[in-house]
Amino acid sequence: MDAATEKKCVLVTGGSRGIGLEIVRCLLTGTEVIPPSRVVSLSRSVPAELETLAQEYPSDLVVVQGDVTEETDAEKARDAALKRWGRIDALVLNAGIAELAPCADLTAERFLHVLNVNTVSLAVTVRLCLPELRKQHGTVVFVSSGAAVGNYAAWPSYNASKAAMNAYARTLANEERDIACFSVRPGVVDTDMQAQIRASEQMPAEAKAKFLALYKEGKLLPARKPAHVLAALAVRGSRTSPQLDTGSCPGADGTFVSWDDAASATLQAP
Ligand SMILES: NC(=O)c1ccc[n+]([C@@H]2O[C@H](COP(=O)([O-])OP(=O)(O)OC[C@H]3O[C@@H](n4cnc5c(N)ncnc54)[C@H](OP(=O)(O)O)[C@@H]3O)[C@@H](O)[C@H]2O)c1
Repeated sequence: MDAATEKKCVLVTGGSRGIGLEIVRCLLTGTEVIPPSRVVSLSRSVPAELETLAQEYPSDLVVVQGDVTEETDAEKARDAALKRWGRIDALVLNAGIAELAPCADLTAERFLHVLNVNTVSLAVTVRLCLPELRKQHGTVVFVSSGAAVGNYAAWPSYNASKAAMNAYARTLANEERDIACFSVRPGVVDTDMQAQIRASEQMPAEAKAKFLALYKEGKLLPARKPAHVLAALAVRGSRTSPQLDTGSCPGADGTFVSWDDAASATLQAP
C-alpha cells in the first residue's frame, strides 16, 4: 500500500471516555463519511470500553496511558505512532477538564492547573508533532467550547482556557500554511463533564438551571454526534474544505466553528 492509500494515523487525547472515546470509535470503524483510520489514544485511564476497542482493532489502535501535561507522555504517544505506522496525519486535542470555582475563590494553583491541562498541553503536543504534520499536510482539531466566548459564572478558568485555545489555533493556522486547524464547539454533550457541572455546588442556581433543564428534557447531545464531525474533520478537513457560507475556510485560519455549522453538514453522522 503506498503512502497515499495507506490509512491515516490520528493522535487523539482524552480517548478514554465521553467525546474522545466516540472520536476513537468513529475513526477505527470508519463510516460512510470517515475512512477507517489508525489511532493513538492518550489518556490517564484505560477503561474497559477502550480496552475492548484495542482488542477489536489490534492493528489500528495503540493505547498510551499518560497525562497530557507530562511532555514525556505526549512524546510516548507520538513515538508509538511513528514506530507503528511511521506517520501522524492529524491530532484531535480533546482532553479537557472543567474545574468550577468563582473568581473570588480561584487560586493561582488551580487556575494554572486548568490552563495546563486545557491549553498549555496542547501547545506542547503540537510542537512535538509538527514535523510529522508538516510532512503529511496534516490537520489539528481543537475541541473547544462555547465557553471560549462565554461568561458562565464559576467557570473563569475553563472560559479562559478555551479562549486561549482558540487564540492559539488561529495563530497556528497563520504560522503553518501546510496544516489545517479547526477549533470546534461540540455543543452540550452527554458526558461525565456535564454530570460534573450538574453536581457542582459552585455555580449559581440560575446559571446551572440551563444545564439541568437540558438534561431533564433529554436534550443533551449524544457524544457520537459531535465526535463524528470532529473525527471527519481530522481525516477529511483541509485548508480548503469545508467552506463556510461566506466562502472562507475555517481550516485555513483556525476560525472557531460549531460542530453543527452548515459547513459541516456533509461531515455529520449518516
Ligand atoms: N461535554 C460537554 O458538554 C462539552 C462542551 C463543550 C466542550 N467540551 C470539551 O470536550 C472535550 C471532551 O470533554 P467530555 O465532555 O468528553 O469530557 P469527559 O467525559 O470528562 O472526558 C474528558 C477526557 O479528557 C481526558 N483527560 C482529562 N485530563 C487529562 C489529562 N491530564 N491527561 C490526559 N487526558 C486527560 C479524560 O481522560 P482520563 O480521565 O482517562 O485521563 C477523558 O478522556 C473537553 O475538552 C471539553 O472541554 C465538552
